[in-house]
Amino acid sequence: MKKKVIILGGLGNGSVIANAIIDANQRGYDEIGFAGYLNDREPTGSKIEGLPVLGKLSDVKTFLEQGFYFINTIYRIDGQQERIELFQNLQIPDSALATFIHPLAYVAPNVELGAGCVAMPNAAISSGVKLGKCCLVMVNATIGHNNTIGDHCHFAAQSCTSSFVEIADGVHLGLNCCVRENLKIGRNSTLGMGSVLLENIGNNEIWAGNPARFIRKTK
Ligand SMILES: CC(C)(COP(=O)(O)OP(=O)(O)OC[C@H]1O[C@@H](n2cnc3c(N)ncnc32)[C@H](O)[C@@H]1OP(=O)(O)O)[C@@H](O)C(=O)NCCC(=O)NCCS
Repeated sequence: MKKKVIILGGLGNGSVIANAIIDANQRGYDEIGFAGYLNDREPTGSKIEGLPVLGKLSDVKTFLEQGFYFINTIYRIDGQQERIELFQNLQIPDSALATFIHPLAYVAPNVELGAGCVAMPNAAISSGVKLGKCCLVMVNATIGHNNTIGDHCHFAAQSCTSSFVEIADGVHLGLNCCVRENLKIGRNSTLGMGSVLLENIGNNEIWAGNPARFIRKTK
């Protein structure tokens, strides 16, 4: 029987992942099915692009007791630490986090995926990669071989990392960026869209450009 999955979030990462789950089901994938959103901004009972808002984040416990599974999509570039804490405070056990690999994604057989990770269509996760919990690998993102990645990282569409990159928790890689091999990216840092990273990034830093330069600390 399909696991019933609730997405924490809404329009944006939440809705694109919800639609990818629905698309996967239409292709015959039946491990999980999308049930609805928990969203603190939209009223319970409303719809986001036709898909139901079932409640608020504070309703997690009720839905956990009813046997639902969860995917977290509530991230942002500034304030990532707060978002991660918001999620951690919900105390969802790993066993109730759904991992979703769209049938058009490539995930090498020896990849270690943490609970609650998502690999969207045409994402490619190469051999020897270790991903922590709740990472979102969006469409066409490519993670190079032997990367080690923390929890709550977001790989925007078309982002690309080379081999042996070490990425800490809460990192955002922007649209269409690329990262040279053997580099390290610190906690809650961001690489801007279209950037080419040639140096290590520290914690809570935003870098962008080609070659990427330090822009500012995160707020
Ligand atoms: C890097 C980023 C976070 C910076 O945002 P910001 O702090 O609002 O930065 P600003 O727009 O004020 O720009 C600050 C400076 O950085 C430059 N800059 C910003 N983003 C840049 C990028 N991606 N590449 C090159 N330069 C960039 C700006 O030109 C500006 O330079 P200046 O001071 O010489 O004029 C943002 O531009 C970005 O790339 N976000 C990622 C978008 C993305 O991946 N979205 C996916 C969502 S699913």
